[in-house]
Amino acid sequence: MCGIIGYIGYRNASSLLLNGLKRMVYRGYDSAGITCLNNDTFVTKKDVGQIIDINKKLNFSSIKGNVGIGHTRWATHGKVSKINTHPHFSCDGNIGIVHNGIVENFQNIDKLLTSSHNILSETDTEIICHLFEEYYNKYNDEKKAVLKLVNKLEGAFSFVLINKHTGNLIGVRKDAPLILGVGHDEYFIASDILSFIDYTDNVIFLDNYEIVILNKNKHDIFDFKNNIVEKQIVKVAWEIGQISKKGFEHYTLKEIYDQKNSIINSINKNKAVLKQISSLIKNNKVFIVGSGSSYHVALIAKILLAKYVKINVEVILSSEFNQYLGLFDNNTVAIIISQSGETADILESVKELKKQKSKIISIVNAFGSSLVRESDYNLYLNCGPEIGVAATKSFTSQLVIIYEIISTLCVDFPLIKNNFIKKSVNEILNLETKIKDVINIINQKDVYLLGKGLNQPIALEGALKLKELSYIHAEGMSIGELKHGSLALIDNGTPVLILNPEDENYKSTLNNISEIKSRGGYIICISNKNDKLYDVFLPIPKTHDSLYPLLEVIPLQMLAYFYALNNQLDPDFPRNLAKSVTVK
Ligand code: BG6
Repeated sequence: MCGIIGYIGYRNASSLLLNGLKRMVYRGYDSAGITCLNNDTFVTKKDVGQIIDINKKLNFSSIKGNVGIGHTRWATHGKVSKINTHPHFSCDGNIGIVHNGIVENFQNIDKLLTSSHNILSETDTEIICHLFEEYYNKYNDEKKAVLKLVNKLEGAFSFVLINKHTGNLIGVRKDAPLILGVGHDEYFIASDILSFIDYTDNVIFLDNYEIVILNKNKHDIFDFKNNIVEKQIVKVAWEIGQISKKGFEHYTLKEIYDQKNSIINSINKNKAVLKQISSLIKNNKVFIVGSGSSYHVALIAKILLAKYVKINVEVILSSEFNQYLGLFDNNTVAIIISQSGETADILESVKELKKQKSKIISIVNAFGSSLVRESDYNLYLNCGPEIGVAATKSFTSQLVIIYEIISTLCVDFPLIKNNFIKKSVNEILNLETKIKDVINIINQKDVYLLGKGLNQPIALEGALKLKELSYIHAEGMSIGELKHGSLALIDNGTPVLILNPEDENYKSTLNNISEIKSRGGYIICISNKNDKLYDVFLPIPKTHDSLYPLLEVIPLQMLAYFYALNNQLDPDFPRNLAKSVTVK
């Protein structure tokens, strides 16, 4: 997944594009580039690395011109190198392109090229430019050329072309996000609202199979079949303030601290939709689909729905969805959990579910995302934009929405009290020093995170955080499972992180802990109650059994963050990852 952006208007494009790419760095940070059209000449700067570092060398804002395109890359086709860095150009140098997604049939496209083209890179992107060049030279009409082009491409992609002949930008969207920012005599076009929210909060969400041609005064939107499409301009609710680091060193730490308020902000914001979906959940087969951290929330929902609503729901990893296609029909309801609403595996699952006429309920953070527009019902997190690649505040807000679904279906479910949450999160954030001590204990060793019942998905989530941010091998599992094999891995001093609040599993977990201790395991325990078995005790406030996941995940987020910091790793943009993966 990459971040793409274009600007056409009266301002100097390069500094706007640079700012936009800095905002989208979470989408991919292998390499970056910008090109602007100035007096009929393209001026391009691009290199390998993160946009912020490249800019120190190349000073993008020195590029002049009122129209331009920019890109920050997450490599899929072609290694991380300068030649594979976007923007790419046509042979005649009159067409430039930035692209997000994958053109699955790019190897066949060159067969469509009638004349020999000098393809410079290994990417699936550059070929698009050459094919457009062919059609444009044939028809001398960019609308005709782009219509011919898009009907030759297969896959999930969005791209922006810059055409020196007309000075226009041409945007194409198919299964990858592309949004217009509408200003006075200027337009932005980008993968994410965050990239231009500083300049306009008036947006047009392009839908799949749509094309837009932009000059600074006008936008012309039509679909792949050349039907004109009228689109609404929508005002987005996100403010600039929400995307600043607010003085924190990293977005990840800021977003961990945001939980003092974000958990509360998620409560009672979806009342009407919750009412509408309760009978749907009660009277149909329910499946919950997610990836990464969102999948771990789905596992917690499964346990709580069984416990409080006496219904069995199936939880499916979105990347494994097509193994279960036969199970869906118009009597099935799918709850889709996704922070970004753009994860490709998720959108693929939704496409299949819609084919089977299943009802789609989304639990999502990103307004206007593809998932929002494909779903029948949307439950919003209202936790504000999340920039750090590892999910933190979105995780606890997803939990809140799950709790609210359960409360709508079962009156006995405990309510979340605002004051308790504020006080508890503050108490946990004050564990910083103790958590830093744990870092020295772990110190590059393999780590096991264990829990039972609702604590097991949190053990999985804690392990994911450590893998994502600290690059150490961490494994989360059910503590009861340990003695069926993994106990062989426990040796003298092996760090074992255990979640053992005083819930129904407390006593049996203590027995498991003494088994581990007797094999030399070093016990680090997150609980509301200390015990002599623990080598390190990380206290969390006492609460209702079902609410412990909301609190006990926060020390694990902090551990992964401070571990990364302690090892000079970038907690916001860990290697090889991206905030949401928009390629399958
Ligand atoms: C990964 C993110 O790319 O996708 C994780 O790094 C996230 O943090 C996962 O949990 C799923 O993303 P989403 O947006 O579908 O919840």
